[in-house]
Amino acid sequence: MKVPSEQLAKMIKCNQFPRSANYEPVWVVENQMGPNALWLMEWLCRDMDLKPRMRVLDMGCGKAISSVFLAREFGVQVFANDLWISASDNWKRICEAGVSDRVFPIHAESRSLPYAEGFFDAIVSVDSYHYYGTDDLYLAYFSKFVRPGGQIGIAVPGLMQDFDGEVPEHLIRKQKSGGVFWVEECWSIRTLDWWKNHWGHSAAMSIELGDSLPDGCRLWLQWERAIDAAGANIFPSDEEVLEADGGRFIGFHRLMARRKEVEPR
Ligand SMILES: C[S@@+](CC[C@H](N)C(=O)[O-])C[C@H]1O[C@@H](n2cnc3c(N)ncnc32)[C@H](O)[C@@H]1O
Repeated sequence: MKVPSEQLAKMIKCNQFPRSANYEPVWVVENQMGPNALWLMEWLCRDMDLKPRMRVLDMGCGKAISSVFLAREFGVQVFANDLWISASDNWKRICEAGVSDRVFPIHAESRSLPYAEGFFDAIVSVDSYHYYGTDDLYLAYFSKFVRPGGQIGIAVPGLMQDFDGEVPEHLIRKQKSGGVFWVEECWSIRTLDWWKNHWGHSAAMSIELGDSLPDGCRLWLQWERAIDAAGANIFPSDEEVLEADGGRFIGFHRLMARRKEVEPR
């Protein structure tokens, strides 16, 4: 780590996320896979009904730091499900974090989940659902795993407005870091209205909340600067694009829906 923990703590200090501030900054930075997973999970869970001992699926948990956060902050049992990161890799981190009695690592693909229908009291996902959940048929499959009355909440990178024609030049410009922000997989980054419409078709789920993170782009930039300074960015830096964007197009959305007690025919 190129900067000491205290300096990193100052760089990622953020009044909106007091719970996240209690986690060792070096641990958070070393285990990041993009935007700050703890900030996104704290934001998402602020309006979810999480109670101790609930069974929660953390879908696309990456290196499971959000799963550790859920177990510590809410006393819930967490199934830390990921594809790119192995269960053994996450189990090591979970044990080191002292939550091996409550967090269970699972390696599974989003379309072949090894859970019983209705098993979870809640499902959460940060910076992951857009990789598979834009499929029209996905929510009908995914929603079966939460019990009737249970919630699904996601926080995803989002478009603050649609493009009028071409992708804006600043998003596809090659940056000094060598990176280009808008790569092929960014086509699954959608507006809040798109997500509301997408989930609005569900027969099983009722949308309870959909909004955007205030100042999301600036927070992403603050985080990007910190991981760059620490030499921990696993991608070429996107500081330049986030600065140029200033929140015109890039930010974060969250969506929350509850499974209906009785599904209409
Ligand atoms: C950008 S990473 C974010 C990880 C973590 N949520 C975080 O914020 O640090 C996206 C995660 O989504 C997971 N993912 C992507 N496609 C998936 C799929 N088809 N099935 C299960 N997980 C998937 C990957 O394994 C990856 O860890």
